[in-house]
Amino acid sequence: MICCLYEYALPLACYRTGSIYFATARAICCCYEAICCHLLPLLLLSFPMGNGDPRGERRRGAKSAPLKNPRGDPRPRDSRGRGWGRVDTLHYLCRIYSSVYRMQKSSESIPHSNEVGKYADVNWDELGFSLTPTDYMYMAQSKEGLNFAQGTLTPFRNIELSPCSTVLQYGQGLFEGLKAYRTADDRILLFRPEENALRMKKGADRMCMQAPSVEQFVDAVKQTVLANKRWIPPPGKGALYLRPMLMGSSSHLGVQAATEYIFLVFASPVGSYHKGEATLNLLVENKFHRAIPSGTGDIKAVVNYSPTVKPLAQAKAKGFSDVLFLDSVTGKYIEEVSACNIFMLKGNVISTPATNGNILSGITRKSIIELAKNSGYKAEERAIPVDDVFDADEVFCTGTGVVVTPVSSITYQDKRYEYKTGKDTVSQQLRAALTGIQTGSIEDKKGWTVEIRS
Ligand code: COI
Repeated sequence: MICCLYEYALPLACYRTGSIYFATARAICCCYEAICCHLLPLLLLSFPMGNGDPRGERRRGAKSAPLKNPRGDPRPRDSRGRGWGRVDTLHYLCRIYSSVYRMQKSSESIPHSNEVGKYADVNWDELGFSLTPTDYMYMAQSKEGLNFAQGTLTPFRNIELSPCSTVLQYGQGLFEGLKAYRTADDRILLFRPEENALRMKKGADRMCMQAPSVEQFVDAVKQTVLANKRWIPPPGKGALYLRPMLMGSSSHLGVQAATEYIFLVFASPVGSYHKGEATLNLLVENKFHRAIPSGTGDIKAVVNYSPTVKPLAQAKAKGFSDVLFLDSVTGKYIEEVSACNIFMLKGNVISTPATNGNILSGITRKSIIELAKNSGYKAEERAIPVDDVFDADEVFCTGTGVVVTPVSSITYQDKRYEYKTGKDTVSQQLRAALTGIQTGSIEDKKGWTVEIRS
């Protein structure tokens, strides 16, 4: 009876009550575990040895003779006359341990995000783009070239990796970034998550990695959002940033693709990427480059970002917000800012560098091109000489992190060029159109948003 309660009723109750009694249930289970796993087996083992094997009795008696206990053992017997021997005790122990294991598994997969209220204890007005660890992360593994197994939610924690794993040795890793928004009427929306999944697949192909299916990717993101629901900022205060990651986890000393992979999704509430800077002052970098032709510039490889750290740090030390990279072959064309795409507006035309293999095909970039066209602007994807930018009316950056952020100045070879920013700009108009759809305040006629229901 207790076993039933332990194995079925409690997990079910936890599940049905949305985990509000989770802590109590877990405490009860811990006590039960202590009694069953440690105290009870000890008591059982201290009983004198019974005849656990009825065949012995049968051999001694007539085939149809009633079963009896020759030693007068007072312990209960089952319908076939068997007593409780060491084998039974061992069996019982195994069952207890397996049910404890199952209980732990089931309790781990029960998100308790709402256990202590609708919102986590966060100062929502102070959010920037830094990690606030949340309750749960999702993790799945692929082994020996097989598809990813069913993933699970586990409490957010450090992960274990071999020092010789390919992600650590040779940067065989990809990441994605997308956001979940809480709408004014308390729905939860994702923005074009299948686009991130497809981009991860494309990156995995370039890096010889096993990728999760689009369905698994989107499902993992949804599960992570729901499990961390209380960390989704109130409407207008930011978003829950999801960071899906794919990494080679098997050990290989020589350069090669891993045979094992980890797919992981964690979450963090975020506000503005360039916190405290409503507009950006960019420095054109003409020594370091971000991408090379036929390299990995157009996928979200982890190795694309580390080379930007030094020029970025140097630019920041000089008071700039970010760095604008030029192409590595001629040094004449603009490519990307360290963590986002760039656009310029001249007259009625918005232009952005064409995805020539070096440029990340941003999902915000793609959406802004479409929204601009819908608003009557001409949108071009082309090679943009840096000189063209100096002549622009407006310049702005796009990305999941930066959303749409206006650029107020670009400095190149000590010359500073300034651009229009503020209320009546095209970048503000496009930003409003985009964020309106993302946050549910503007009707999504494009089918870009995906509502997550618990
Ligand atoms: C994003 O905007 O999601 C990005 O991937 C940029 C990241 C480097 C912060």
